[in-house]
Amino acid sequence: MYRLALSFFLLTTVMLINLGLQGQPNRVSKDEVDLENLPVELVLTNLGVPKSKHSITKLDMEKAEIGRQLIFDGRVRTKTHKSKRISPYFRCTDCHNMVKENDNPTDLDPENRLAYAEKNKLPFLPAYSLWGVYNRTAFYTGGYGKVYGDKLKSAKDSIGNAIQVCTKHAASGRRLADWEIEGLLHYFKQHELRIKDLPSLNASDKKSILYWQKLDEEEKKALREKIRAAFIQVYPATLAPVLGLDQRQYGEGGNAARGELVFNKSCLHCHSGKRVSNYNLDKSKLTARFFVQNLEGFGHSNLYQVIRWGTFTKKRRKQTMPLYTKEQMSDQQIEDLVAYMKQLSKK
Ligand code: HEC
Ligand code: HEC
Repeated sequence: MYRLALSFFLLTTVMLINLGLQGQPNRVSKDEVDLENLPVELVLTNLGVPKSKHSITKLDMEKAEIGRQLIFDGRVRTKTHKSKRISPYFRCTDCHNMVKENDNPTDLDPENRLAYAEKNKLPFLPAYSLWGVYNRTAFYTGGYGKVYGDKLKSAKDSIGNAIQVCTKHAASGRRLADWEIEGLLHYFKQHELRIKDLPSLNASDKKSILYWQKLDEEEKKALREKIRAAFIQVYPATLAPVLGLDQRQYGEGGNAARGELVFNKSCLHCHSGKRVSNYNLDKSKLTARFFVQNLEGFGHSNLYQVIRWGTFTKKRRKQTMPLYTKEQMSDQQIEDLVAYMKQLSKK
């Protein structure tokens, strides 16, 4: 017990010295010294990684509150600031969760994501969670280039521009004012990744994080690579083709129970009671029959196509359905959904 207390004392002292000596604006105060809660950005900066362009030195909670309202209410109502709705149709949380979607933050398997969503009562959405978005280094990459073309040029290395592309083109909404973008960034800063969010770091990594000043260049490099590999800085987006008629299983071998989960947690999140879409979906025989009748075709009424392509704006229907990439929904999950629709249509 005595030795434990002593080593704890020593550890804290060393931390205080190590972190305090930095003399940086990010200096950690006495009360805050807690390895598990150290911001990943601070640790990486100590190890020689340059800060990102959107880095925030001092979190401002009033600004973060503006960001919170934009995300969850779709507009701002504070004492000092007011704004109109970003989009008449969507809020950020219709497409993005704000919490983690997997126990292991580098796991992108959609089957595991669905299981996690079920366990933690989360929706299963077409876009990635914005959990940890503050710590990412590139945005809207991969297959989205094919969808949006040049519009994404400025979004790749600027989170602010990525948000603008997203609210305009994915959410069919307006451009955000600078103070709104700033509010969002402060909200993201408030929820930045911390050491406890990276489960792949072991005790020896954590010790090195504490004693970072003692590491030589090689060791520093190894440690920062290890930390960078412990979470995703650039999320991939792999566009999947619409399966041809002879590639489809038509639900054969699909798991209807998992298909029901996909329907509940994904499709109904937007379509139930016409919440986001004008197009109502429910768990009636009629809905199921409609999809089953259209399984061999192409177009918006066809499950294989609407999931992989999403929809496009029409004259009086500006809102569009986002497509699901391979990471967001597997071909097997589509088959599971088809199997569920077939089962429901026969009830
Ligand atoms: C209609 C669906 C939809 C809505 C609503 C929406 N987004 Fe997105 N957003 C997407 C999709 C799809 C992407 C592509 C990458 C992905 O899956 O995260 C994206 C990408 C992003 C990215 C880049 C993330 C990355 O790592 O590449 C940011 C940041 C973002 N959105 C912020 C927002 C914010 C803030 C709001 C609300 C003001 C919002 N989005 C509303 C669908 C949406
Ligand atoms: C992020 C919200 C969202 C999610 C999730 C979503 N949709 Fe949609 N969906 C829309 C929007 C918006 C439209 C555009 C049409 C409209 O709103 O009137 C649309 C259109 C459609 C249409 C075409 C309607 C037509 O006649 O043009 C179908 C079919 C459809 N969705 C099925 C699905 C299925 C199946 C799922 C689950 C795999 C799903 N949607 C998930 C928002 C969503």
